[in-house]
Amino acid sequence: MNAQNMHGSARNTQALSDSDLVIAAFTELAAEYEPTVDRELRMFWGVSYRDFLTRFLTMAAIAPGESVLDIATGAAALPSRTATAVGPQGRVYGLDITPAMLTQAAQRLAAEGWTERAPLVCGSALAMPLADASFDAVLCALGTHHMDVPTALAEMRRVVRPTGRIVLADVCANNFWRSPAGAVLLHALLIGYGLSLRSTRAQAEIEAFNNVRTPDEWQRLLIEQGFRNISLQTIPSRYPWYPSGILIHALPA
Ligand SMILES: C[S@@+](CC[C@H](N)C(=O)[O-])C[C@H]1O[C@@H](n2cnc3c(N)ncnc32)[C@H](O)[C@@H]1O
Repeated sequence: MNAQNMHGSARNTQALSDSDLVIAAFTELAAEYEPTVDRELRMFWGVSYRDFLTRFLTMAAIAPGESVLDIATGAAALPSRTATAVGPQGRVYGLDITPAMLTQAAQRLAAEGWTERAPLVCGSALAMPLADASFDAVLCALGTHHMDVPTALAEMRRVVRPTGRIVLADVCANNFWRSPAGAVLLHALLIGYGLSLRSTRAQAEIEAFNNVRTPDEWQRLLIEQGFRNISLQTIPSRYPWYPSGILIHALPA
């Protein structure tokens, strides 16, 4: 495994410089990340963060001995809940671009005794310091909307084994947003959101909006980036102006 391990000394600092806003936003949020995301998922999708992760991991179906990569791992909720499933022969790597999130992740994994089984890597999903074809499962929950999605998918395609799968979950756009009226309404709502919060997190979420795709757009992008057997599930939003959720399972073509 060609990875720069967070528990060691090397860090991929070059890739960090492009994403200052994301890093600032998640540095600001790091200590409060999980209660915040739990509150937001309950408010907008009517599901707890815990139940969302359970649904995601049911789709991922991680097996003993597997090599798993969790992209945009945040505070390592997925590695924490996957370490038992991979067993002593398996590994679950957590990659994130924000050192403050990885500090939360490292503390949690150490407290749970998973430091060796769940190594952390600081780097960008858009240029991962990881070897080709090295993972049975590549996961990414609530992360792709902060990324250039075609580049992130191309990187996932590069590191997943030919027999592996990717499992993603994120916010997704609905078709109304793609209509002229929907686009105007959305623009107004985004300005209101930015003005009301004025935090780096709000700015990062506004910047991320162009990366939010409809299910059809996801399907097309996945095919373009070399995936097949694509299964999509949606989590309906409680409000028409807020993005729904999408869960995606796909195989390398
Ligand atoms: C909303 S959190 C998701 C955390 C976790 N996956 C979860 O399910 O709770 C988004 C994470 O994506 C990370 N992130 C954003 N852009 C990234 C990139 N280009 N490469 C790696 N991580 C990135 C942020 O640092 C943040 O920790």
